[in-house]
Amino acid sequence: MLVDRSRLRRLHVSEHDRFIDQHPNSRRRVDTAGRHLLGGVPMPWMTRWAGAFPLFFDRAEGAHFIDVDGRDYIDFCLGDTGAMVGHALMPIADALHAQALRGITTMLPNDDATWVGAELARRFGLPIWQMAMTATDANRFVLRFARHLTGRPKVLVMDWCYHGTVDETFAVLDEHGDVVARPGSLGPQVDPAVTTRVVQFNDLDALDRALAHGDVACVLMEPALTNIGIVMPQPGYLEAVREITRRHDVLLVLDETHTICVGSGGAAHAWGIVADFLVIGKTIGGGMPAAAYGMTAEIASRLHTPLFSEAIDTSGVGGMLTGNALALAAVRATLSSCLRDEDFAVATPLAGAWAEGVAKVIADAGLPWHVQQLGCRAEYWFCPPPVNGAQAAAATDHELDAFMHLWAVNRILFVSSGSFRAEFGARRGSSCR
Ligand SMILES: Cc1ncc(COP(=O)(O)O)c(C=O)c1O
Repeated sequence: MLVDRSRLRRLHVSEHDRFIDQHPNSRRRVDTAGRHLLGGVPMPWMTRWAGAFPLFFDRAEGAHFIDVDGRDYIDFCLGDTGAMVGHALMPIADALHAQALRGITTMLPNDDATWVGAELARRFGLPIWQMAMTATDANRFVLRFARHLTGRPKVLVMDWCYHGTVDETFAVLDEHGDVVARPGSLGPQVDPAVTTRVVQFNDLDALDRALAHGDVACVLMEPALTNIGIVMPQPGYLEAVREITRRHDVLLVLDETHTICVGSGGAAHAWGIVADFLVIGKTIGGGMPAAAYGMTAEIASRLHTPLFSEAIDTSGVGGMLTGNALALAAVRATLSSCLRDEDFAVATPLAGAWAEGVAKVIADAGLPWHVQQLGCRAEYWFCPPPVNGAQAAAATDHELDAFMHLWAVNRILFVSSGSFRAEFGARRGSSCR
């Protein structure tokens, strides 16, 4: 047996007690907050941390945050990349302050919008852009556009993908290869088999067969899976996906929300793949909710008619506060002071050093485990590298993951909670960004 489970459970109990002893103020606050907040938190995922209760944070700066018990953590989670550039950066804070004093929501464009559109086009290689509040929204809007443009009803996603809380993407394959609702998904609108086709990442034959039905509007995927641990594309896979989607006249939507960790223009740009639509959220706002989606000039020209129609405000694409001036100021400040080539030149070798160190510990212990690096992000696996989401999900070790995260947090290392993501069948191992 690789892991002594009864020892692991004993150790977990002592780490659990240690966590409670170290966080009396967080505990009190969770109890008080629980009177009026569901689970004592403003958003469900905040319940899913490795300790007995969530930490209340006092302030965050750079790669650190301090909790209400005065403990100073190294933040390897960074808001699950929402704050990948670091917390409370001066250029972003200054831009937010200045814009807040000049007005936030007017339903009108401003000069920051023009700057952001041009910068996104320069970085990601698609010429025309729109804003959204979140990557979830951006994906939802793109799926609507794709169905409108193609007249086809379905979308195709990868097994165990994550693209935000987008109904069509909450679908996985069961043991018979049928599309079913993702475990944990609450109250699906319709059976996801009606809206969605699912294939395994890295399986080109399955993709070709699925698209041959002729009912898929778009393939929505990450260039590398990042939400069930990092699963890398095999050599030639993405090029072949591009060829197959073109052959079936299906739009390719790349969600680079996480894979921007590869470089300033995302993974697809670095790897020479051109999508029809590209979605980018989270990191680009420097912590503020903001997202964007880009498209080819040809698609943009085909969207001209609906854009200027009387009914555009009931098109299902929009959101009254989308594209607000505060979000645009945040994106402009983030893209002009962070996430640049020179920033990746620092961050990526740091992730490399982390990956090398962890790989050495694993090798020294003689374990069949693995470290995967993707640009400035890296994480460990309790198994050899998986080739698709199903393999990755099957290899999840909730117990070991939960213990490792709890052990780390008790020693002021804050990593994305494996137990929290594993509950949704997602990330295993820990991340270092
Ligand atoms: C690849 C990907 N797309 C979209 C999203 C959704 O982002 P948000 O929750 O900000 O809408 C996520 C969130 O983790 C993501 O990983």
